[in-house]
Amino acid sequence: MRIGIVGGTGKEGGSLAVRWARAGHAVTLGSRDEEKARARAATLTARGFGTIAGAHNRDAARNADVVVLTVPYAAHTSTLRTLRPELAGKVLLDVTVPLSPPEIGRVRLPNGRAAALEAQALLGPETSVVAALHHVSHTVLADPDAEVRCDVLVATDDEGARSRVLGLVRDLGLRALDAGPLDNAVALEALTAVLLHLNVRYGAKGAGVLFSGLPESG
Ligand SMILES: NC(=O)c1ccc[n+]([C@@H]2O[C@H](COP(=O)([O-])OP(=O)(O)OC[C@H]3O[C@@H](n4cnc5c(N)ncnc54)[C@H](OP(=O)(O)O)[C@@H]3O)[C@@H](O)[C@H]2O)c1
Repeated sequence: MRIGIVGGTGKEGGSLAVRWARAGHAVTLGSRDEEKARARAATLTARGFGTIAGAHNRDAARNADVVVLTVPYAAHTSTLRTLRPELAGKVLLDVTVPLSPPEIGRVRLPNGRAAALEAQALLGPETSVVAALHHVSHTVLADPDAEVRCDVLVATDDEGARSRVLGLVRDLGLRALDAGPLDNAVALEALTAVLLHLNVRYGAKGAGVLFSGLPESG
């Protein structure tokens, strides 16, 4: 699958890119600065897990089947407004968490209740927004050989888009779970602030979630 990662030069985007490239996907890192994207992509490719391309965010989105959004919440609306034409007809996997630095361990519900709901409202029905991957820290994904025991909840109103994203999550080596409609992104995004609190409270780096009472394969 062709995956374009908007904001892919960052911490989360880079870790996802390496794992997806290793799984055989055609991954393009996006940036506001094409040169920066190319340089970062070359660095990640040099790690030897697969070839990763770099491009301006616009081109990364335009040439992708699934667009992954990994930018800080402060840049969420402006980035989506800019890329709206490129996102029409696409699946948008929104990883954004509406954090409010420096108090990142406190739940902050945005005006639209969740970043993913704001994305869907802004982009309209031409784009299928899927909320996922909020609970997997880049620190635990960073080593592509490391086994990660963390569940990934996938919320969306489009079953076709959900199916694609569930597959992409499994390709990262993670258990993927259907978490219901996009409205449930409110709970998913809010939980991340609790995980960040746990990291501080217990001196951890990558607190995640594992659900019990479910089939092993999800
Ligand atoms: N880090 C994690 O472990 C983690 C885990 C789960 C979810 N998330 C969520 O994923 C998102 C990305 O996290 P991250 O840690 O990867 O963030 P990050 O490294 O701070 O930033 C990611 C990228 O966003 C772009 N960006 C920064 N400011 C921008 C602006 N004003 N306008 C447009 N683009 C801007 C930058 O790319 P360019 O400068 O190249 O354009 C940057 O490399 C956040 O919403 C975060 O809450 C992160």
